[in-house]
Amino acid sequence: MAKRRVGILISGRGSNMAALIEAARVTDYPAEIVLVISNEPDAAGLNFASSRDVPTAIINHCDFASRDAFADALDAKLREAKTEFICLAGFMRLLATPFVERWRGKMINIHPSLLPAFKGLDTHARALEAGVNKHGCTVHFVEPELDSGPIILQAEVPVLPGDDEPTLAARVLKEEHRIYPEALRMLAEGKV
Ligand code: GRF
Repeated sequence: MAKRRVGILISGRGSNMAALIEAARVTDYPAEIVLVISNEPDAAGLNFASSRDVPTAIINHCDFASRDAFADALDAKLREAKTEFICLAGFMRLLATPFVERWRGKMINIHPSLLPAFKGLDTHARALEAGVNKHGCTVHFVEPELDSGPIILQAEVPVLPGDDEPTLAARVLKEEHRIYPEALRMLAEGKV
């Protein structure tokens, strides 16, 4: 069966993007990564994508007068690549509502917390401060309201005595790299 065509949006390091690209290189994986777009010209993830022969594009939000105009440019580029699904992977811009509505059910995100706990930024620091003993990550559909769409997969990790932000973040990130490709597989196979 033909692989489903996936675009990834990044802003930085791109380790989740790399996990998706590597997963998609396996013959029986149901999706292929056809395009990586970064809004940040210097995003490190762009080099990794190029090294794996995945086409990349930079669409810098600073070049657009409005959130809508930026989203329209993303949309045009994604459609040009015949993208069927979008994965947000550390993409740090809020997307215009019409764009989110257009891609509803076809756009997913990874968030470093057990949603609905700790929406937004600095999730690991906030989890430590709250004194929770379990933390983790979530892959969810993207809805106009931030970090709020239906959940596809979650992975839980313990918060251990002596944890600080880097140790906890590393434990969670390992799980992110495991569940994001799994969630995209489910989406591409029509199982969610
Ligand atoms: C990850 O922790 C992801 O959950 C969050 O932003 C971070 C991006 O890291 N949305 P990377 O760019 O995928 O390495």
